[in-house]
Amino acid sequence: MRVLLLSDIHSNLEGLEACLAVAPSCDQVVNLGDIVGYGASPNEVTDQSRKLGGLFVRGNHDKACTGVMGVESFNPIAGLAAFFSNQAASPENLEFLKNLPQGPIQLDGIAEIQLVHGSPLDEDDYIIVLRDAIEPLMRTTVPLTFYGHTHIQCVFSVKENQLELMRPMYRTKDDRDIYEVKLERGMKYLVNPGSVGQPRDGDRRAGFAVFDTESFTLAFHRVPYNIEGAQKRILEARLPDRLATRLADGR
Ligand SMILES: [Fe+2]
Repeated sequence: MRVLLLSDIHSNLEGLEACLAVAPSCDQVVNLGDIVGYGASPNEVTDQSRKLGGLFVRGNHDKACTGVMGVESFNPIAGLAAFFSNQAASPENLEFLKNLPQGPIQLDGIAEIQLVHGSPLDEDDYIIVLRDAIEPLMRTTVPLTFYGHTHIQCVFSVKENQLELMRPMYRTKDDRDIYEVKLERGMKYLVNPGSVGQPRDGDRRAGFAVFDTESFTLAFHRVPYNIEGAQKRILEARLPDRLATRLADGR
C-alpha cells in the first residue's frame, strides 16, 4: 500500500495544488493537521482536503480557528490568521475542522503505524531536535509515527538505544526533487513529511512524502510552486506581510 502523507497545508492553495499535481497515485491519504492558519485560502484548502479524503488528525491551528482552543498560546500574527480563517471558511468547513480527531490515531488495519500532529505524547508538542524525540520514541510502542507541526522534513529513529536524526539531502534547490529513505523493520521511527504550505527548513519548495508499506520505503518530495500567487492572496486578504515574505525564505 502506498500512503500519501500531507501535513501543515496552512491555507496555501498554490502549494497544495502543486503537490497534488506531482504526487504519485496512492491507496491512502493521510493529513496530519493544520489544514488552515497563516495562508489566505482556508476555505479552498479545506474543500480540497475533504475531497481528497483519507485519514485526518487535528492541528493546533485547526483547533484555534474553530474555537476548540483559545489563541492565547499563539503569537499575534498566528492569532490574526486564525481569526481570518474563521471568517473565511464556510460553516460546513468550520464544522469539519472542528470535528477533526485528536491524534494519535491508527492507520486502518496497520497496527505498526500511528498518526499524530505534534507528538504521540501530546498533540501540541514540538519534536524538533534529538532531545525532543527521546521520550516519544522511548515511550511509544508503535514502530512508525507520522507527525507534523514543526514544518521540517526529517526522520528520527532509535535502535538499541541509539538515536539518530536524518534529514533529506536534495540534489537541487529549485526543481522538483525526491529523496528516498529505506526504513528498517524492528526499529522505531518518528517521520515528518514536511509542510505543504509553509516550509521552515530553509527550502521554500512545498513538501510532502509517500510511504510504501510493502517495501518500507519513504520518499520525501519537494515541489516548486507559485509562491508569488500565494503571497499575492495573503497581501490582498490584508494578512500580515510577514506571512507572505516568509514563504519565499522557507522559514
Ligand atoms: Fe503548522
